Amino acid sequence: MKFKLIFVQFIFLILELNNAEESFYCSFDTRLVDGDKFLSYLRNHGYGCVLFDKKHGEDSENEELFKHLQDESDFEVKYITSTGENSINPVIDSSICQKFENLEFIDIQSSSITKINSDSLSGCKILEILNLGENEISSIPDKLFDRNLRLSHVNLAQNNLTTLPENLFANNHELEELNINNNEINDLPPNIFKSCSKLKYLKINNNKIENLNPNWFESLKNLEILFSNNNKISEINSKVFNELTGLKSLYLNGNGIKTLSPEGFLGLKALSRLYLQENEITYLPENIFQDLENLVDLNLSSNKIGFISTDSFGNHSELWKLNLQSNDIKILDPNSFKSMQSLVELNLAANQILELPENVFENLRNLMSLYLGNNKLETLTVGCFKGLRSLTTLSLGYNNLIDLPESIFTPLSNLEFLHLDQNNLTTIHSDSFGYTAKLQRIYLKSNLVNAVDEKILRLAPKATLVVDVAPCVNYYVANIRQRLSKCFKNYKPRTV
Ligand SMILES: *[C@@H]1O[C@H](CO)[C@@H](O)[C@H](O)[C@H]1NC(C)=O
Ligand SMILES: *[C@@H]1O[C@H](CO)[C@@H](O)[C@H](O)[C@H]1NC(C)=O
Ligand SMILES: *[C@@H]1O[C@H](CO)[C@@H](O)[C@H](O)[C@H]1NC(C)=O
Ligand SMILES: *[C@@H]1O[C@H](CO)[C@@H](O)[C@H](O)[C@H]1NC(C)=O
Repeated sequence: MKFKLIFVQFIFLILELNNAEESFYCSFDTRLVDGDKFLSYLRNHGYGCVLFDKKHGEDSENEELFKHLQDESDFEVKYITSTGENSINPVIDSSICQKFENLEFIDIQSSSITKINSDSLSGCKILEILNLGENEISSIPDKLFDRNLRLSHVNLAQNNLTTLPENLFANNHELEELNINNNEINDLPPNIFKSCSKLKYLKINNNKIENLNPNWFESLKNLEILFSNNNKISEINSKVFNELTGLKSLYLNGNGIKTLSPEGFLGLKALSRLYLQENEITYLPENIFQDLENLVDLNLSSNKIGFISTDSFGNHSELWKLNLQSNDIKILDPNSFKSMQSLVELNLAANQILELPENVFENLRNLMSLYLGNNKLETLTVGCFKGLRSLTTLSLGYNNLIDLPESIFTPLSNLEFLHLDQNNLTTIHSDSFGYTAKLQRIYLKSNLVNAVDEKILRLAPKATLVVDVAPCVNYYVANIRQRLSKCFKNYKPRTV
């Protein structure tokens, strides 16, 4: 068999010398060594050696040490890795595991591997970590991992796989992480993960999966994170995740999901993060998130949701972050967010919202950021911001606001940033504001502002107005009356 002489940049080995007490990490470099049997074996496979002195933390090219390495039995190789700048033999055969049977970690990423034989790993009985990512493997043999009982981490991402064999993991009871992202997988056998009750992380992003099969998940009581972004899932079926009672994060973004079954998320009692952005969801069935008692972060941005009703979110008192940006929401039910007392961030930007019902955010006493930019607001309903006593950031830019009603911002005693840019405001009246000692910036660019009530500087003593009115284009107007009169031609100081 002809091996290409290849140069694999780093192969770290832990060496234990029989007649020395030190142990050494060894990284191989073809350019540096000559000689003995072991080294010539490695050289023939494209590896060479520089010794790394663990004790002194330095590379050493100590020829004396090499002399001890006459025989393979002098040391144990635990870890083999390549950075893949040059390709090694495109077929992985059994020779590596025959030679280094104590390997715990094989890392042959980006090495143009096209094939792996079914007995390639059978000699590596204590293998724990296998990385074959970024190669061109198009099929995995059925019995590949049969003898690797300790296997815990497998990376097969970015290969040319279309599926995996039914019994591939039948003996891998220790498997904790599987990454098959970026392949061409359209389906997996139903019982593929039957033995993998310790699996914690399953990554199947960027494949061609159309249906999530509930059988895959039946044994995965310890699964914590399921990544299934950018597949072709169009529907979340009833109870598909029912057995994933330990799941904490679920990534389903970028699939083209159109329909959510009302029981689609049933069983996910531990779930705290749900990512559904960049899909085509038009409608949230009543109480769809009912079972998700521990949900803290829900991302529904970039969908086609048309309205939010009282029952859209049920009584989600634990939720911290709700992202509904870039949907088609026109109407907010006044009770939409009533139960979300823990909410810290609410993003409703880039929708079609015409109106904010009175008291719609009333119970959101912990809300710190509210994004309403890029909607169709022409007026603000009196009382719409009632209850938002923790709010620090309010974005109302890119709407059609003409006027700010009296007392509209008075509930916002902790406000720091107020975005009003790109509206049709002509006057900023101080009576819109209460005492806002923390207000730092009011953004007013791209409005029609020609008058600002000076009293605002007493109500918001630290505030800076960010304006672009001639002659104050890109001007920061901070606490200075003369500047106000210079910037606004209708500026009339009022005595209070
Ligand atoms: C693997 O997929 C890549 C990208 O799609 C392609 O360029 C390559 O030819 C494929 N290799 C094999 C062996 O199929
Ligand atoms: C939610 O999704 C949007 C993309 O639509 C993304 O920009 C944002 O970072 C996501 N938020 C979180 C917390 O993942
Ligand atoms: C949430 O609502 C459901 C029914 O709608 C009810 O059974 C449950 O007790 C409620 N939970 C809380 C915490 O209020
Ligand atoms: C806002 O001003 C723009 C440009 O002056 C105008 O076209 C638009 O109709 C105004 N919108 C409202 C709601 O008044």
